[in-house]
Amino acid sequence: MPDLLANPDQSLLSVQLEAGLSPEQYRANIKLAISGGQNEPRDVIAGAIWALLSHPDQLELIREGTHSWMDAFEEYSRWMSPIGMSPRRVAKAHTLHGVSLSPDDRVFFMFGAGNRDETVFSDPDRFDITRDYSAAISFGAGPHFCAGAWAARCLIAEVALPMIFERLPDLRLDGPVPFGGWAFRGPLSMPVAWSTGT
Ligand code: HEM
Repeated sequence: MPDLLANPDQSLLSVQLEAGLSPEQYRANIKLAISGGQNEPRDVIAGAIWALLSHPDQLELIREGTHSWMDAFEEYSRWMSPIGMSPRRVAKAHTLHGVSLSPDDRVFFMFGAGNRDETVFSDPDRFDITRDYSAAISFGAGPHFCAGAWAARCLIAEVALPMIFERLPDLRLDGPVPFGGWAFRGPLSMPVAWSTGT
């Protein structure tokens, strides 16, 4: 930190120090960037590959240029909600849809339920990269919206997905893919096979 204060750079820590965030704030953000930077990209890279391999018609839409890897990433994130829920502590008394909430009550934000709200998305249980996914809340909403959303979009939709399908054009599933988790949701294992070409 003394080095970064003397010579600021574009790193997450340096930017936060320059912005005057408190130690409590930048520690929390760094901690979440480490866990968020690993858990969710890991789950989404594997999960989106699985979704495309098990919906070859949709993979074809990308290969023929009608839709993009970003469409696949955003729709997978809506459909599977890699972060399905996040907890909160109620700060002040409030009534929501007839339910009374008191200070210190614990509540869960259900991103997964919002992302499959049938009043917002038609046929929400279907993986469909051609749909309008713009109302999805896969990265949260409001003041705690994911600080790494654009890093994740770039990492997954602009680098990882195109690279793996380009390098391994005959990548295929080679066994069942069980899913688990609702706070952090993704494939628990994903057997795949490909030809080496030799
Ligand atoms: C597809 C990948 C990702 C998904 C789906 C995702 C999802 C989310 C969600 C839903 C939240 C809000 C949680 C809440 O409201 O309680 C969040 C917050 C956050 N995420 Fe991500 N995330 C992803 C990748 C990343 C990456 C790559 C980083 C960092 C490099 C990151 C850093 C953070 C941080 C620091 C917060 C806390 C923001 C705050 O509380 O102000 N995330 N993320």
